Amino acid sequence: MAQITDQISLAVAALNRGELVAMPTETVYGLAADAGNEDAVAKVFALKGRPATNPLIVHVADSHWVRDWAAEVSTCAEALMTAFWPGPLTLVLPAKAEVSRAVTAGQDTVALRMPAHPQALALLTDFGRALVAPSANKYMSISPTSSDHVARQFADDELLILEGGNCKVGLESTIVALLPGDAPRLLRPGMVSVASIEAVLGRPVVQQSGGVVAPGQHHKHYSPGLPCYRYGAESDVSHLHQASDIGWIFCGNAVPVAGKAIELGADPDSYAQGLYDALYQLDHETLSAIYIAEPPHNADWQAVQNRLERAARPL
Ligand code: TXA
Ligand code: MG
Repeated sequence: MAQITDQISLAVAALNRGELVAMPTETVYGLAADAGNEDAVAKVFALKGRPATNPLIVHVADSHWVRDWAAEVSTCAEALMTAFWPGPLTLVLPAKAEVSRAVTAGQDTVALRMPAHPQALALLTDFGRALVAPSANKYMSISPTSSDHVARQFADDELLILEGGNCKVGLESTIVALLPGDAPRLLRPGMVSVASIEAVLGRPVVQQSGGVVAPGQHHKHYSPGLPCYRYGAESDVSHLHQASDIGWIFCGNAVPVAGKAIELGADPDSYAQGLYDALYQLDHETLSAIYIAEPPHNADWQAVQNRLERAARPL
């Protein structure tokens, strides 16, 4: 059974034994392991049920630690670290030759991020070395934004969960690749916007992943167990409002329904913060389907729209 603690020292001891610890971050909870211990890294893939072809993000407490992992830190990378770290931005950089290819899934690049959560930074600092941490959910299910979500995902596993409250950002980090001879590339949208990254770099960020692979972004990622649909303003779903076995997620403006309704904020930050918790809540109920009213389609909502596309089918 998973066990929840607020003691950093217990978590550090577990990591030193090569065990995994669920670590709160400002985005989502991560399944952390000693990034320099190949056996511990292998446990992450095994416990998640994640294919070995899907690389892990290396988490650091100090931007100096990046030099242990990246073969080259460009001025663009330095500028983004200064502007956004600690925070929800992951940089994909050329990996040093000695970086374990178990971490990078065989690629010659490594993903790095400094999380902004005080418990994550305390854990990394006390442990003193980098931690790999994919989202702390079983493969293909919803990323957890509370210790309770993690405990539900790993109910049958031995896992220490470090309590860190509800994640403030609520969606996984923005991932940008900064590789020699290539333009900056967005590999995964997140709450650090493309516009804010371009403003720091003073040059455009390419939005197609091109030749750079960020595996593991399958279409059916982040899905709850129930059939899940999204619908725009043009869809008339009023005939479903009386069904008592439908769960709803509204973007502000909830309408009266017979089933279970969750109203998320009408601004992207508060919507993002609540989205995964809403999906966990509805997945828990005795419902037959989930319907999600789509937020606006514009750049401010890019990360939210990306996750909804993965979680829900269009009506
Ligand atoms: O917010 C986050 O990023 C959370 C928290 C825990 O830090 N972590 C997270 O990890 O979302 P995960 O493993 O669920 O997603 C990491 C993504 C995957 O899509 C993976 O393919 C990509 O990062 N990635 C990791 N290393 C990469 C690399 N070297 N090149 C390209 N993509 C990489
Ligand atoms: Mg994930």
